[in-house]
Amino acid sequence: MLDYHDFLGEVLISEETLQSRILEMGAEISRDYQGKNLLLVCILRGGVMFLTDLMRAISYPHAIEFMAVSSYGLGGRESTGQIRITLDLNTDISEWDVLLVEDIIDSGHTLHSVLELLSVRKPRSLAVCALLDKAERREVNIPLHYCGFEIPNKFVFGYGLDIDDYYRNLPFIGVVDLAKYQALQNTRG
Ligand code: IMP
Ligand code: MG
Repeated sequence: MLDYHDFLGEVLISEETLQSRILEMGAEISRDYQGKNLLLVCILRGGVMFLTDLMRAISYPHAIEFMAVSSYGLGGRESTGQIRITLDLNTDISEWDVLLVEDIIDSGHTLHSVLELLSVRKPRSLAVCALLDKAERREVNIPLHYCGFEIPNKFVFGYGLDIDDYYRNLPFIGVVDLAKYQALQNTRG
């Protein structure tokens, strides 16, 4: 496996900065959801690290759920409008105030489709919390209620986000130097 230091362009968001922003977001969500029946729905797999830190920052009682979707994409690092649920919720959300927890919103296609699928099930409310927003890349409008950081149009990894399935474990958000990454992949054969 490649050592990430060899293709890390820069650390975009440090562990300390991530953690202090997540504490703020948790406090805000705790205030906003007073009296509500909060269900955090994590979209696997990228959102998992964010979910586990965010839920510890939320003092208000809540439940969690997971779902996974795959996009019939162009392959590689783009997504299209077409998604398929590969893991569905085990909860009837009609009694819940659902807050979707996502790692990153890029084109917006994935979240747009998830919102359509879930709104049909008539949750009490449906809102979105994303750690990262690549706003420049947006192709469909998404209501974003809680956003950790707006980031530039660069491919990032770490803190749940993968590059070709690896490096989700890193505690910070890094920018991939794609030229270096490709060159290293090529020399590996
Ligand atoms: P969208 O449908 O274009 O908004 O894509 C959203 C999904 O693409 C995210 O949930 C991520 O899994 C993935 N994605 C988008 N940008 C990045 C990135 O910079 N690094 C890693 N994954 C990304
Ligand atoms: Mg994702």
